[in-house]
Amino acid sequence: MIKITENIHLKVITTKDCESLFELMKEVYPLAYSHFWTDKGNWYVNTQYAKENILKELLEEKAAYYFIVFKGEIIGNFRIIWDEKLEGLSPTKQVKLHRIYLHQKTQGNGIGKSILAWLEKEAIKKGYEIIWLDAMNEQPQAFLFYKKLGYKYHSHTFLPYDLLFKNVRKMSQVYKILI
Ligand SMILES: CC(C)(COP(=O)(O)OP(=O)(O)OC[C@H]1O[C@@H](n2cnc3c(N)ncnc32)[C@H](O)[C@@H]1OP(=O)(O)O)[C@@H](O)C(=O)NCCC(=O)NCCS
Repeated sequence: MIKITENIHLKVITTKDCESLFELMKEVYPLAYSHFWTDKGNWYVNTQYAKENILKELLEEKAAYYFIVFKGEIIGNFRIIWDEKLEGLSPTKQVKLHRIYLHQKTQGNGIGKSILAWLEKEAIKKGYEIIWLDAMNEQPQAFLFYKKLGYKYHSHTFLPYDLLFKNVRKMSQVYKILI
């Protein structure tokens, strides 16, 4: 386990955790995003957290995938990809924040902020200069969270998923320069 604070830890997800990651996200994801989808997000969870997809993501050498543990309980997931570049951004070393989801009952307690502060420290230690990510514009909670932490707009795209309501498809790429 990686210690972030006294109460917050990261636990590496392994191939044995597929079922528990799926069960966790079946609960966590819809609480934040079900209203974006015509099927309440079932298709998305079933594909993103299908065993085959989790195993594929675990095989990616440059990626790190963790459970977020708060006071001893697994309450979310966190995935990063080292050396994943955002097109059009300076050719420095970059890390992509791929996923961060906390269970609704633990949001707003500074957990997200602590984890991103940890990531910044790790990235700087390893010589990385930029963290970036995709954020859905219509999810103000996440959008304001990144804004508050100093992330800046770079570009945007529109998600192509048919089951996603049209008015929530905009996704912005945001980034933070670390040094
Ligand atoms: C977005 C998320 C990762 C943020 O983590 P968190 O632990 O809830 O946020 P924190 O408590 O660390 O908040 C950090 C700062 O962001 C601000 N912030 C968080 N949520 C906010 C909101 N809804 N509105 C305005 N500001 C907000 C906080 O005020 C805080 O600032 P402060 O330190 O000055 O008080 C988390 O809420 C989450 O997982 N949400 C659901 C899933 C999701 O949307 N994930 C992101 C996918 S890109």
